Amino acid sequence: MAKIYLTTAIPYVNGAPHLGHTMDYIIADTFSRYHKLLGDEVRFQAGTDEHGNKIFQKAAASNIDIQDYVDQNSLKFQNFIKKLHAENTDFVRTTDADHMRRCQAIWQKISDHIYPSKYEGWYCSGCESYVTQKEYDENHGVCPDHQKPYEKLSEENYYFRISDFKDQIREKIISHEMLILPEFREKEILKMLDDAPDVSVSRPKSQLTWGIPVPGNDEQVMYVWIDALSNYITVLGYADNDISDWWPAAVQFVGKDILRFHTIIWPAMLLALGLPLPKVICSHGFILADGQKMSKSIGNVVDPNEVIDKYGIDACRYYFLRHVDNFSDGDFTWDKYDSAYNTELANDLGNLVQRLATMSAKNQVAGLDTAESHSAFLDDQDYLDMMNRFEFTKAFDYAWTKVQAINKRIDDEKPWELAKKGEDAKPVLTSLCKDLLNVNELLKPFLPVTTARIEEVFTADQIVPPATPLFPKQ
Ligand code: MSP
Repeated sequence: MAKIYLTTAIPYVNGAPHLGHTMDYIIADTFSRYHKLLGDEVRFQAGTDEHGNKIFQKAAASNIDIQDYVDQNSLKFQNFIKKLHAENTDFVRTTDADHMRRCQAIWQKISDHIYPSKYEGWYCSGCESYVTQKEYDENHGVCPDHQKPYEKLSEENYYFRISDFKDQIREKIISHEMLILPEFREKEILKMLDDAPDVSVSRPKSQLTWGIPVPGNDEQVMYVWIDALSNYITVLGYADNDISDWWPAAVQFVGKDILRFHTIIWPAMLLALGLPLPKVICSHGFILADGQKMSKSIGNVVDPNEVIDKYGIDACRYYFLRHVDNFSDGDFTWDKYDSAYNTELANDLGNLVQRLATMSAKNQVAGLDTAESHSAFLDDQDYLDMMNRFEFTKAFDYAWTKVQAINKRIDDEKPWELAKKGEDAKPVLTSLCKDLLNVNELLKPFLPVTTARIEEVFTADQIVPPATPLFPKQ
């Protein structure tokens, strides 16, 4: 039994969760459930990123006290994670007193690599970030995301000397001691690493009030990355406790937009602390709505609650885990969602369960358990290899072809005709039920509610078909 620590990105709490936030959690939860099925002990972090001007200004604009504002939005994320049936074991908030204190300790421990300097250049107040002259020129002086002209800025702050660690990070990436997934992103990151400048890690208090104070300098507040990235270890108790039971993380899941922070700044911080690097940084793509980036101004933002409420949580997990490749961008439209629900979940799986349970009940099939299916799961090397390579969509497809194969077996072997001819249909039906329980085991990491129900139906003393199909057609 191994100890597995996995993490998810901590979202900003400047609003409620949106559809894109689904990915980190359901991918991480799939991995977590998979490892629990293998018998491993899993620690699964989630949390919220609560500092920064954007959040502060949002609260002010809504006339809500900043602490109340972040409390309310953090709670929305906590509820959202529950609604996704993601089984996180920890939840960290960057405004937690423990996190803040530990984060200051981390700053002090890496302070040999931090130096004061002056920034003079362009700044986007929407992105809350500095803008290089190259970006400025490419965007003709206007931020494409916020449609705001960049501002000229001159300020004192602290920089973290990434250059102290570039060689070590490069070596760990190339040797796969820290594996970047998908692998095609590795080259991209190595190129970025070569060009990576030192990063600014604080802001003057006059610019940013809502943040963790820099230890030893009352005039400076930590800027997002040291504060946010530290969460992965402060939640384990660092720097108060020894975290070697859980650290290094088996995997850290992040979206592609923040992969570079997790593969350059974060490893540099860990090396400065003398801690090992995570074994895998696994990035997913972006969810688009009808081929477009979701944005409030376009008015195409999809509320994840509506998606979940329409057909239940497993339909949502099904869509985003099977129809969106976990390494690439994916598209959501209501039409695609309805069609996946009706033709795949309702037809392939829902009908199968209904038909097989009905025939098995009539023919008194009984006495099934999951011991055999669990050992079949442990022996299914193709599936295990895909899951171990983090190829979740592929593994899900693989399991689904087995669902389709059972349907085909039923159509070919026609157990209902055996019964009509007075022959014993029970052996065929028993074998079909065993096939279903086998595939059910493979589906457990993806569809927790459905697989629990299937197990309940087919391992009961007496099989009773569900009163309503698992996925009623709509
Ligand atoms: N707060 C930072 C992360 C700090 S981690 C130490 C942040 N927050 S975020 O709210 O913008 O994003 C949180 C996660 O959601 C990230 O993994 C991000 O990539 C992911 N997504 C945000 N929008 C997304 C889509 N439209 N589609 C898929 N995932 C996306 O970045």
